[in-house]
Amino acid sequence: MKMIFLIALSAMIMVACSDKSVPNVELIQDLMDQPSVKAQEYDDFFPDHAGSRVPAENTQPVGFKPYRFAKDIDGAKANKNPLAGDHNPASLMLGQKFFETNCAVCHGFRLGGDGPVSLKWPTKIPALNTEKIRGWTDGQIYHVISVGQGLMGSYASHIPQEYRWQVVNYIRYLQQNGK
Ligand code: HEC
Repeated sequence: MKMIFLIALSAMIMVACSDKSVPNVELIQDLMDQPSVKAQEYDDFFPDHAGSRVPAENTQPVGFKPYRFAKDIDGAKANKNPLAGDHNPASLMLGQKFFETNCAVCHGFRLGGDGPVSLKWPTKIPALNTEKIRGWTDGQIYHVISVGQGLMGSYASHIPQEYRWQVVNYIRYLQQNGK
């Protein structure tokens, strides 16, 4: 009897696993249905009815380092690049990866402000090999990546803080070596 039950059980599990179009058989239902709110879900409780909540003020998730100069332009300007002048290939390639993934579509692969999106963008996308940006501190470029500027949004969620200086260094590298 026990054997038959086991065979039937494994057959059920196999069927459930092989056909993705039907819901799994829920043998043990503990924790399967719970009142947790999913991202993007409507929520009755909060006045703005958004399921996704922003962290309460003056709190931060464990392991997350906030950008200190989001509202402090002078601090941002003076923010020292701990990797200044680091042209070792592994570090530059990291910068290149993030730059080409996130920035080149607008600012161009060689900083000319002529990436594919620039053809459709309503305003002129600035080049980054200009006298203006050459004259900026590394901290100012880091700042724009972190909080955006005017029509350009923040890239904080695309480029973790530990890789932003590499992107700045890659821009400096292109300024010096790009055509
Ligand atoms: C969707 C297009 C777009 C992308 C992608 C983009 N930018 Fe921008 N960026 C802009 C626009 C538009 C401006 C000008 C914004 C303004 O001042 O109104 C700008 C401005 C800047 C400036 C200041 C230029 C100046 O002359 O004032 C810097 C530096 C910059 N971006 C760096 C970056 C970096 C680094 C990335 C990638 C992390 C990036 N941008 C991604 C559109 C983009």
